[in-house]
Amino acid sequence: MKNLKMTIVLATMTLVAISCGPKKTTENVEEEKVAPKMLVLYYSQTGNTKAVATEIATKLGADIEEIVPVQLYDGDFQATIERGKKELDEGAFPEIQPIKADVNKYDVIFIGYPVWFGTYAPPVITFLNQVDLNGKKLVPFCTFGSGGLESSTKDLAEAEPNAEILLGYGVRAARLDAMPKEIDQFLKAGGFIEGEYTKLEEFPEQHPVSEEEAAIFDTAVYGYPMIHAKATTVASRIIPEGTEYLFTAVDSPREEKPDMPPAGEMQVYVTVTGDQAPVFTKVIR
Ligand SMILES: Cc1cc2nc3c(=O)[nH]c(=O)nc-3n(C[C@H](O)[C@H](O)[C@H](O)COP(=O)(O)O)c2cc1C
Repeated sequence: MKNLKMTIVLATMTLVAISCGPKKTTENVEEEKVAPKMLVLYYSQTGNTKAVATEIATKLGADIEEIVPVQLYDGDFQATIERGKKELDEGAFPEIQPIKADVNKYDVIFIGYPVWFGTYAPPVITFLNQVDLNGKKLVPFCTFGSGGLESSTKDLAEAEPNAEILLGYGVRAARLDAMPKEIDQFLKAGGFIEGEYTKLEEFPEQHPVSEEEAAIFDTAVYGYPMIHAKATTVASRIIPEGTEYLFTAVDSPREEKPDMPPAGEMQVYVTVTGDQAPVFTKVIR
């Protein structure tokens, strides 16, 4: 009887202890769920990627830091091409200033860069080589002359096999005006900020280009020296601003540059808004 009484007392005490323990309120459970720590890290030589990084960090209210090479790339375009190419060819990447942020503290890291030779610029390679990003969610973003988000994202996935690479954002340097609105949609679609966004329909199947569609393609790429191609097939879809075309095009040899081999087949995205001239938004080679 005495034992039974003791057992009842102990059991009651245990129950009281459990119910008095630290309790998770609905609010702090919610907070843990919706507030991953986010950092925006970027390299930018001429300011384009910096503009995108600033826009992202401002919209997220996230911490932001620039990756700064010890020896700046402060030569002209040709000098930068030569130095960058040499570094890539030799695998000798530039030293960078120590990163002040403790990346271990963050769950999601937005990594921004200009596309150089189809991938992220060498200071970002140095950063990736020296920092442990295992288990992080990485969001690539970039600026480029014609394209490179897809190829650089693939390289990032290879360089960081133990990180989760999320869908990235890329914009042509010539279209930076369109960037703030696109970033807003991008961050909402990724669930990083709240708000409505337009989910675009898939492109339908490609069909051979009509004369009118070929003219849209030619106008969009006219004067851009890196594209010397003719459209073969196309598909289009409605977007909030107008119509978006996805062209398949084939590069042709350049008489003036016989040493530059044709790049083969490429995908070219073109947007037509109202009565404005068609513009290409990115090329995937
Ligand atoms: C060395 C070098 C290589 C580049 N390679 C490419 C490239 O492969 N593809 C491309 O579309 N643009 C290329 N660009 C253009 C840059 O990506 C573009 O100007 C970018 O917006 C610069 O960003 P920043 O102002 O943040 O430095 C290259 C520019 C430089 C200087």
